[in-house]
Amino acid sequence: MRARTAVIPAAGMGTRFLPATKAVPKELLPILDQPALQLIIDEAAGAGIDHVVVVTSHAKPAIEAYFEPAPEVIAKLRSTGRDALADSLDRVGRDVRISFAYQDEARGLGHAVGCAREAVGDEPFAVLLPDELMGDSSLLAQMIDICERTSGSVVGLKRVPRDDVSAYGVIDPSGPIDSEGVVGVRTMVEKPKVSDAPSDLIIIGRYVLTPDVFDRIEQVQPGAGGEIQLTDALRMQAASGPFHGVLRDIRRYDTGNPLGWLTAVVELALDDPKIGPAFRDWLQERR
Ligand code: UTP
Repeated sequence: MRARTAVIPAAGMGTRFLPATKAVPKELLPILDQPALQLIIDEAAGAGIDHVVVVTSHAKPAIEAYFEPAPEVIAKLRSTGRDALADSLDRVGRDVRISFAYQDEARGLGHAVGCAREAVGDEPFAVLLPDELMGDSSLLAQMIDICERTSGSVVGLKRVPRDDVSAYGVIDPSGPIDSEGVVGVRTMVEKPKVSDAPSDLIIIGRYVLTPDVFDRIEQVQPGAGGEIQLTDALRMQAASGPFHGVLRDIRRYDTGNPLGWLTAVVELALDDPKIGPAFRDWLQERR
């Protein structure tokens, strides 16, 4: 079966962006004129996803508000001839079906994914962390293909300098990486010491998971702070069936902290056909 649903966990507290995230959820911070969440939905749609489940919290009403229809604003834009802008507003939440699941207490990524169980049903699904932006949909599309072909879960990978592995989930590959960037995963460890790390391949925020992961999540023992780690459930899956990682040369931005967010915004602004040239001139004059 092919994954057609994507889960976007967006119920976290966004502490690294406080006080901005007191009123504006991290997932709605703008990347130029688009909320990060919209870019993630566009990536999913580009990989063939037609249903997105946003896991949110009742403390973040702005997330749902973003998907509310805005007929008055659209009518006003049309009456003043701003049709392109009206069209872009009109398509919000319409090119894929959007549903919501709730996690009112941030109890970790595993728990957040578990909250989407009913909305996903008994089929493979993608998980996209909204604080990582990808240059295009190709990684996710390839991961969906591999999940369908192997009937096992798939994680996105990135190679990092050995000294940096301790901040991430790291895979233990079961063999070499093939010409498509695909590698078998024997197991994985969360935030290992550099000396204990089984490789320099870290798990990034893209997953395509078989639905048995929901039972595994329920078996995970909560760790520090009552958090339920997704990696613990994935380790159980890798121990009992096919499990793969995909390493692909794709642009990726970590927008989960202020410096990473700013880097993404600057790079995308430089590439933007409308504001790029003026922005580049301004940057050069400033130096
Ligand atoms: P992060 O850990 O980067 O987000 O989780 P956070 O917890 O909101 O941010 P900080 O660390 O406090 O600054 C990655 C994604 O997973 C979601 C977050 O909303 C974010 O989009 N998440 C995380 C949940 O939905 N629930 C959780 O319990 C944890």
